[in-house]
Amino acid sequence: MTVHFIGAGPGAPDLLTLRGRDLIAASPVCLYAGSLIPRALLDHCPAGARIVNSAPLTLDEIIALIAEADAAGQDVARLHSGDLSVWSAMGEQIRRLKALGISYTVTPGVPSFAAAAAALEAELTLPGLGQSLILTRTPGRASAMPPGETLAAFGATGATLAIHLSIHNLPQVVADLVPLHGPDCPAAIIWRASWPDQRVVRGTLATIEGLAAGGPERTAIILVGSVLGDTDFAESQLYAPGYDRRFRPATADSPFAGSGE
Ligand SMILES: C[S@@+](CC[C@H](N)C(=O)[O-])C[C@H]1O[C@@H](n2cnc3c(N)ncnc32)[C@H](O)[C@@H]1O
Repeated sequence: MTVHFIGAGPGAPDLLTLRGRDLIAASPVCLYAGSLIPRALLDHCPAGARIVNSAPLTLDEIIALIAEADAAGQDVARLHSGDLSVWSAMGEQIRRLKALGISYTVTPGVPSFAAAAAALEAELTLPGLGQSLILTRTPGRASAMPPGETLAAFGATGATLAIHLSIHNLPQVVADLVPLHGPDCPAAIIWRASWPDQRVVRGTLATIEGLAAGGPERTAIILVGSVLGDTDFAESQLYAPGYDRRFRPATADSPFAGSGE
């Protein structure tokens, strides 16, 4: 018996990996994490599968369900929204499974920041403007931030910010970042990226609060950084005609000549 942790993607049912789909189809038990999992994904479950929403359960109850499936020799598809590497609660489940000697696999998914960037048709790293992306959040009712992980500290780097779980905190986000990035720094908010009711607003740190007024207080990413607005960036060396590289030697005597595939 194996528990398959599967990143279910940001919302659109066809943004699930083929591996994730096949594991769901092969597992007689499916545990899915609440409202951010599109119901259409559950259609991949085999006929007669036991399908449980884990949102109202405690960790103990989730592990008890998995232990029950283990006793029955039934694989479990464990679905979390987006990718499993950020804010999925996979870590604490894996720790319990290890203690119980239950085997598991991990299948990545499309993270919500990637779906948000796609909604903007934006590359979040641009030559000379931004070469780093910080995935972060602000403190929540249930989650304090470790010391040092502040928006002020991250904002000071100048890197592009993808701020999760913070739409309800927008005034504080703006207040923290304006002194560092300036009021004209581009900002955007993407609610429910890739869902049919996806909503996008683009503005600046000065205007974004007004533009977002009346928007939902959940399931949004706040993106901040010059890469969102500035079109005056350099072209990459990747496709520059004179740049010598393995797959496109610039001259016949390049050290890369004849080494490409
Ligand atoms: C518990 S975290 C899950 C993150 C997820 N593991 C991921 O890879 O993106 C939930 C937060 O992710 C963001 N989020 C998840 N899905 C989203 C979507 N489709 N559009 C915008 N933000 C989303 C929001 O900030 C939301 O509050």
